[in-house]
Amino acid sequence: MTNQRSPLVIGNWKMQGSLALNASLVHALLALKNVSVAIAPPLVYLATTRQQLVGSAIKLAAQNVAAEGQQGAYTGEVSARMLADVGVHYGIVGHSERRQYYGETDALVAKKFIRLQEQGIQPVVCVGESLAEREAGQVEQVVSRQLLAVIEQCGIQALANAVVAYEPVWAIGTGKTATPEDAQAVHRFLRQLVGSYDKNIAENLSILYGGSVKADNAASLFAMPDIDGALVGGASLVATDFLAICHAAKASLVG
Ligand code: 13P
Repeated sequence: MTNQRSPLVIGNWKMQGSLALNASLVHALLALKNVSVAIAPPLVYLATTRQQLVGSAIKLAAQNVAAEGQQGAYTGEVSARMLADVGVHYGIVGHSERRQYYGETDALVAKKFIRLQEQGIQPVVCVGESLAEREAGQVEQVVSRQLLAVIEQCGIQALANAVVAYEPVWAIGTGKTATPEDAQAVHRFLRQLVGSYDKNIAENLSILYGGSVKADNAASLFAMPDIDGALVGGASLVATDFLAICHAAKASLVG
């Protein structure tokens, strides 16, 4: 079966950046052409970044969203409606850092997913196992539980307008990348899981890999048939590194 999916690279800046740093980083990325790229600055910088991206095809992604609703008395929260208002295209949900440090459960992740889609924002739902879970042979059990929570709450059709990111927790910020073959095995498993509900949605679903993606390992990851791009942390903060990863994605499309 031919792969119709074109690669997507999303830079997750996490809690890093400043007005000055962001401006120079965005400026360096403006030259990118003919490859799907998004950047996820901290929420407070989204509107400014949006202005800096005018005229560019680079899309804006949010790192978080309120689960409760689209407006109301929820001090400190930012709703999907507000994200859409400032031009956000993708919203990351279920990142392991939010699951781990802020106690986000599968049920909460599904609620955030729904809030985003209510506003036409594509959720990027992250799944991934810890080192202990991998060593215990529970990779498939963990990632399927995390993805099934979304499918059960939102319905399989919801994945027609969403992206999945496989981010093994032990590979995030550690310099340890899953081998392309190990990552591919999990990506294929996730696609088959979705395919057990709907083959067409599975075939068109972008499944990104995240976890220490760098300029020198991106091409081998993108060469795998079920790896459709990357969710990049640390390397997305260094313009030359992020550009190299985006170029590797573009080359994988041609190749
Ligand atoms: P690193 O690329 O820094 O490992 O982070 C990956 C990640 O968590 C992206 O969301």
